[in-house]
Amino acid sequence: MTRSTTSDYHEYPKTLPPDDFWGQVRRTVNGRPVPSEQIDLIVAAVRDGLGLDADDDLLDVACGNGALTNLLAPACRSVVGVDHSDYLVDVAHRNFEDPPRVTFALGDAADHAEHEPEPERFTKVLCYGSFSFFPEGTARRWLTALARRFTQVDRVLLGNLPDRDRAPTFYGDRPGWQAELGDPDAPIGIWRSADEVQDLAAACGWRARLSVMPPRYYASHYRFDAVLERAAG
Ligand SMILES: C[S@@+](CC[C@H](N)C(=O)[O-])C[C@H]1O[C@@H](n2cnc3c(N)ncnc32)[C@H](O)[C@@H]1O
Repeated sequence: MTRSTTSDYHEYPKTLPPDDFWGQVRRTVNGRPVPSEQIDLIVAAVRDGLGLDADDDLLDVACGNGALTNLLAPACRSVVGVDHSDYLVDVAHRNFEDPPRVTFALGDAADHAEHEPEPERFTKVLCYGSFSFFPEGTARRWLTALARRFTQVDRVLLGNLPDRDRAPTFYGDRPGWQAELGDPDAPIGIWRSADEVQDLAAACGWRARLSVMPPRYYASHYRFDAVLERAAG
């Protein structure tokens, strides 16, 4: 399969130093890894949004190289990271695995959700900076399988979603950007409006509560977070 060079998490990370963890998941500004205060903001937002505590067993979906997973591990009882990039999962295994508390597995998000043998062991689910790269069918299968099979999960955080309504200000005069907005293989993936995220969540059994990071967060001008809770009935 041909992959775009800009959203590629299979080959591109191999071109970077093995310990450039934020570079490997493109958490960069002007090509440089974001400062640690920015990572602190993300960790705080995830902990808050999920209400993560010491009794939680977290599933971190599309976890990349596990660098963020690793920072969340102290806030919960256990965490399993899943990602479809064999290279990034290998980086996670080598640097951040600490069984049985912190483990990583290779897999597609939707396939994993549909086939995980013990879905009821998880209490919270995170998908940070990754949901926009799921093709529409994968996104729906994943959310639906979470709702049906992960019966003990009461919150799912979709973090860092690109906001369709703010794409025009983000792109400004750059030509041709409209063609990328619905493309999961484009550099930022699929852009969705708040309404679109709420409708998608509702169609899959979830109610979405949306929030925007504080202005000092480097991507707050075009991204938002969604906390999903089970739709009533
Ligand atoms: C920007 S990185 C984010 C990694 C990590 N969540 C973080 O915030 O540091 C996006 C990740 O999504 C993963 N990904 C994209 N589509 C996926 C899918 N269908 N199933 C599993 N992982 C996927 C990529 O391999 C990549 O590691």
